[in-house]
Amino acid sequence: MSSKKYELVNAETGKKSVLEARSGSLGPDCISVASLTRDHGVFTFDPGFMATAACESKITYIDGDAGVLLYRGYPIEQIATKSTFLETAYLLINGELPTPGQLEQFDHSIRYHTMINETLLRFFNGFHYDAHPMAMVSAVVSSMAAFYHDSMDNDNPRHREIFAHRILAKIPTVSAAAYKHMLGQPFVYPRNDMDYCANMLHMFFAVPAEDYVVDPIAAQALELLLILHADHEQNASTSTVRLAGSTGTNPYAAICVSALWGPAHGGANEAVLEMLEDIGTVDNIQKFLGRVKDKDGNTRLMGFGHRVYKNFDPRAKIIREMCHKLLARLGQTDNPLFELALRLEEIALKDEYFIARKLYPNVDFYSGVIYSALGVPRSMFTVMFAIARTAGWVAHWLEMNGDPAMKIGRPRQLYTGPKQRDYVEVDKRA
Ligand code: ACO
Repeated sequence: MSSKKYELVNAETGKKSVLEARSGSLGPDCISVASLTRDHGVFTFDPGFMATAACESKITYIDGDAGVLLYRGYPIEQIATKSTFLETAYLLINGELPTPGQLEQFDHSIRYHTMINETLLRFFNGFHYDAHPMAMVSAVVSSMAAFYHDSMDNDNPRHREIFAHRILAKIPTVSAAAYKHMLGQPFVYPRNDMDYCANMLHMFFAVPAEDYVVDPIAAQALELLLILHADHEQNASTSTVRLAGSTGTNPYAAICVSALWGPAHGGANEAVLEMLEDIGTVDNIQKFLGRVKDKDGNTRLMGFGHRVYKNFDPRAKIIREMCHKLLARLGQTDNPLFELALRLEEIALKDEYFIARKLYPNVDFYSGVIYSALGVPRSMFTVMFAIARTAGWVAHWLEMNGDPAMKIGRPRQLYTGPKQRDYVEVDKRA
């Protein structure tokens, strides 16, 4: 890694300081600002981390201007068409594509960790039937810390590996249990003879009263969505996993499903469908876009815009293609929500407001349409995202914990509260 130097001069005192910039293998250099506090007694101020790299990572690379996404160097377009979710998870976690033997071993380990402790199932009885599944999954995943606390030494690489396999294997089971609880249906146990996506569909949709046959196109669509959502470098939920994990907490507690939930992040696909239903018909698109562009309003075109992509999100293009394929297979080529989404995208991309701000469809503009076509209810969309993103969370947690230079994450602040003052007794306050 080469290093470049930048000079910072205090315009008032003339005091100089040399800042080193580190170059990665791709992407912009990062100026190391740690010496600023020592040399000038100041912090840097960057709300929302608009220009701050919080760590070094070898996992995922995004070029937001060019619309490029690489998992361990491999373009997402190649991974999406050639790989499986489990192979992608292996790649993200281990850094290299597995040999046939490694893949078989990994696949076997994930299949044989899919069951959850029976007592965990009782947790669901504590939730009301209309609890949001994301809240249930989030609570049950963090409660897994209570089940695997003794066997979890973060400094032990074997323990870290077992954690990675357990959480990847069990998160679909926990999610399916939340879904079944919501429906009031009996829990469906995992099947080790099925691959990851077929098993997921089975746990979600099978009922004891009849046979359930997994549709291979549905499994393929799910596989694709899981691959596309598997990692996205330092997004809000992954950064939360890193921050929580930097304290040395139990990793099940650090897997922060809840940070994904918000509509600005993983909750966007749920919000997109609500928006499409709200718009209703193509005739209403212009009126809706008028609301989006109104400076005094707070309506956003959900599924559009991204903190990093200022070009097409490459995942959105792949998902749109899968939408066409899946809807044709299901005989839903005239799916009104998909038609509306296509027209909305077309109109927005020609609109000066979106052009000027470089707002393009993101991964979630079409993912909700696919999930709906698969029969997944809206409230489960973010849970599906969480299942996929678990691969990324685990990869980042492992990378951080394997780094001997790991430090607790502790941002500083620009304090704007009252200056020091003296306490006033309650009877002396006006
Ligand atoms: N609709 C309308 N206007 C938008 C949108 C949108 N979806 N996104 C951004 N803008 C506008 C803002 O109003 C702002 O305009 P201004 O300069 O006139 O004030 C400008 O574009 C910049 O927006 P910011 O909010 O500063 O951009 P930021 O990078 O902070 O936000 C975000 C990114 C949160 C994703 C935003 O684009 C958004 O809210 N999109 C809709 C929600 C969504 O789809 N989220 C999913 C993201 S993908 C994921 O997490 C998996």
